[in-house]
Amino acid sequence: MSTGIVTAAYIVASIFFILSLGGLSNQETARRGNLYGIAGMVLAILATLLGDQVSGYNMIVIGMSIGVVIGAILAARVQMTSMPELVAILHSFVGLAAVLVGFSTYLDITSVFTSVEKTIHDIEIYLGVLIGAVTFTGSVIAFGKLKGIIGSRALILPARHWLNLSILVACIYLGYEFVNAGEISTGMTPLLIMTVLAFIFGIHMVMAIGGADMPVVISMLNSYSGWAAAATGFMLSNDLLIVTGALVGSSGAILSYIMCRAMNRSFISVIMGGFGTTVSSSSSGTEEIQGEVLSISSSETSDLLGNIDSLVIVPGYGMAVAHAQHPVSEMAKKLIANGVDVKFAIHPVAGRMPGHMNVLLAEAKVSYDIVLEMDEINDDLPEVDVIMVIGANDIVNPSAIESPDSPIAGMPVLEVWKAKQVIVLKRSMASGYAGVENPLFFKENTRMLFGDAKTSIDQVISGL
Ligand code: TAP
Repeated sequence: MSTGIVTAAYIVASIFFILSLGGLSNQETARRGNLYGIAGMVLAILATLLGDQVSGYNMIVIGMSIGVVIGAILAARVQMTSMPELVAILHSFVGLAAVLVGFSTYLDITSVFTSVEKTIHDIEIYLGVLIGAVTFTGSVIAFGKLKGIIGSRALILPARHWLNLSILVACIYLGYEFVNAGEISTGMTPLLIMTVLAFIFGIHMVMAIGGADMPVVISMLNSYSGWAAAATGFMLSNDLLIVTGALVGSSGAILSYIMCRAMNRSFISVIMGGFGTTVSSSSSGTEEIQGEVLSISSSETSDLLGNIDSLVIVPGYGMAVAHAQHPVSEMAKKLIANGVDVKFAIHPVAGRMPGHMNVLLAEAKVSYDIVLEMDEINDDLPEVDVIMVIGANDIVNPSAIESPDSPIAGMPVLEVWKAKQVIVLKRSMASGYAGVENPLFFKENTRMLFGDAKTSIDQVISGL
């Protein structure tokens, strides 16, 4: 296939990717967005395979076959609750690919670059390996934290800012040495040392970020994986990879900004680490929480719901764990049929990935017009008769507002305690992802409906 046709195919693929991003930004058009993305990717792969740069198909067929089999099995098996881990580990692959492509491009003896072009090419390689290495180890640690293999608390080393600064200075110096090294053998040493330092930086950066700030890390690594792909595109002189990487990188950066706003954090302070641990022994807050835990049965809940005008449902990670979205949707429909004004309130970081709750509710066919974002509904909560908190914890924790010492202090939360009555569905008194006690459970107007959320909702429905 001629270069002109490949370039034309790349431009069409890029347009598909932009349409895909546009579609994915809204629930009603998300499916279409997905189809655009698939179409763009199929076109991109076909055009690349048929392009002049490919001289043989054996390795490509073997590599793609292995990748297709592993990817298809993983995608078919993955639970909704494990999606964030899968996304994190996929980001790590992009990072590792950038590192490997960087080394192989540097070792390519057929390279034709000289003088200024060579310097630019070396800088591309250096930056590609640097971003890729940070993305790789950062994503692996994020995977561990999301999977629970690594504790969600922030690891704060005593001189962590000095450590980061020293790594930065060393990487700049090594970059200078690398670009000025005449021979491949001389340049290999700074490149290798920088790679190890970048690996350490990736680990340290994500280890230093506390549980509740993980959403920012996930979107930030999403962005980094895009820039790593763009850097790979520069190294391989592949325009489509540059455009696609830039799209992922910039949309990830916008998502990081949205997540930071949702957590009321500045981006810089999150990546500097330390949030989620500023707290002393009072952080657990157990000794400060006043009040008594009052429980409610499912039949009492049904009776209560039979006598109200308005209900707000706040879903959280526990709804995903319990697979309770279908019964929750059924309960909402029943109550709407009974004349109750039912709304869903979605916190931007509910669950374990951006848009987690929206995906679950869409899957359970909850009408989009009754699903409201936190900013749209928070002010109306004091007027609501009953709020049902289904498997949510951190996102409804009053200590974010009331306790300046709390690890989640400053994070905007759904102020459910202001409603006339709150019912919290969860299995125990355990804390949420951030590991912080929740005074909501001890408030006078709160009743705890203990048990698995799906079982509880099924019982509530049968009692309605
Ligand atoms: P969490 O604070 O994690 O609380 C979930 C609650 O669900 C737990 O307290 C748990 O209590 C309950 N639960 C678990 N399984 C259940 C079941 N089968 N039935 C009923 N309840 C169940 O969730 P959240 O309120 O959605 O907050 C999200 C947290 O995750 C935030 O801290 C956020 O920063 C963090 N995070 C978010 C993201 C993104 S991007 N959304 C990414 C990473 C981290 P029991 O064990 O007592 O049942």
